Amino acid sequence: MPSISRRGATMPESPIRKLVPFAEAAIKRGIKIIHLNIGQPDIKTPKIALDAVKNNTLEVLAYSRTEGAETYREKIAGYYAKNDIHVKADDIIVTTGGSEALFFSLGTIADTGDEIIIPEPFYANYNGFANETGIKVVPIVSHIEDNFALPAIEEFEKLITPRTKAILICNPGNPTGYLYSKEEIKKLASIVKKHNLFLVADEVYREFTYDNRDHYSILQESGLAEHAIIVDSVSKRYSMCGARIGYLVSKNKEVIQTALKFGQARLSPPTYAQIACEAALDTPQSYFDDVKKEYEERRNILISELSEIEGAVVARPQGAFYCIVELPIENADTFAKWLLEDFNLDGETVMVAPAAGFYATEGLGTNQIRIAYVLKKEELKRAVHILKEALKVYAN
Ligand SMILES: Cc1ncc(COP(=O)(O)O)c(C=O)c1O
Repeated sequence: MPSISRRGATMPESPIRKLVPFAEAAIKRGIKIIHLNIGQPDIKTPKIALDAVKNNTLEVLAYSRTEGAETYREKIAGYYAKNDIHVKADDIIVTTGGSEALFFSLGTIADTGDEIIIPEPFYANYNGFANETGIKVVPIVSHIEDNFALPAIEEFEKLITPRTKAILICNPGNPTGYLYSKEEIKKLASIVKKHNLFLVADEVYREFTYDNRDHYSILQESGLAEHAIIVDSVSKRYSMCGARIGYLVSKNKEVIQTALKFGQARLSPPTYAQIACEAALDTPQSYFDDVKKEYEERRNILISELSEIEGAVVARPQGAFYCIVELPIENADTFAKWLLEDFNLDGETVMVAPAAGFYATEGLGTNQIRIAYVLKKEELKRAVHILKEALKVYAN
């Protein structure tokens, strides 16, 4: 048999993928699973976006421009201006999800063997994109005890080598829910300027910030124009994960020109989805206010319920819709599997994401799980109750 590539063989699997067969078997046994493991929001997509496709009279579903439709990019620039991020349509490339913006960013700024420093735990797919591009992920540990705040500047500096090309952050963070302060962004700005690096910020959860805190984007920071690349997405913002639309934003012309060549290889982002997303930009502010309020209430319930679990350490998320919980167990992989295979409370169990898959450093996060609070409040409460009862049984 012809052999597959080494790159293919080393491509990491999703950290929750290996739990899927156990979940499927549980369902076959008639067990109801409450999914705390996935980031698919249950929030309705704005009707205005869906109607734009339904009411469309296109006769040919043609390619769009490689960088995305002109009218759409103009409107995206308007969205950023409202968020105090001043960019032009030419600074924006529409991509097939934030995922493709990540891939284009890494491909644009680093070669095989180059290094990118990423605070861990981080969005597990960064490993996949690094593998695809041959880039080495250099993790820098952030700690649950500090709520996953930005590690000290000296720690970053210790990791910078001649091969370091960039620092990649996720703000607010998946899986930590940590929201970087303006001061933290300023610290990062000073390191990337001092060492002539890129700063890539995955800001796909920008809208979801709590406790009356505002998001501070790397493109609001002056003097970063040549260094900053934003990865963005409509997936969570408008609950349009299936549209597969995101953006790469940079004021660095060389970055845009190079990323565009990656774009040319895939011809264009999806046309119908851009029509929906262009319309979504007219979503009234009240939609976001309601969604944010809903997530904040869910977070409050989740955190207060989880803090009642004896021996659990809970990081308090200030953004996005994830949280990391350290449990009084040895191995979250084994526990997550046991929840699906051997436990149920009145016919129900929960599926969680073991957090080790969000760390690059071997051995970290082994007793932690990630919970996504994209469920209704009552269901979240029920899920934590199940988790609490399960831990009692598991301890014996
Ligand atoms: C931090 C982060 N970045 C990027 C993405 C990619 O999203 P999409 O490709 O749907 O835009 C996700 C999806 O969950 C995410 O959590």
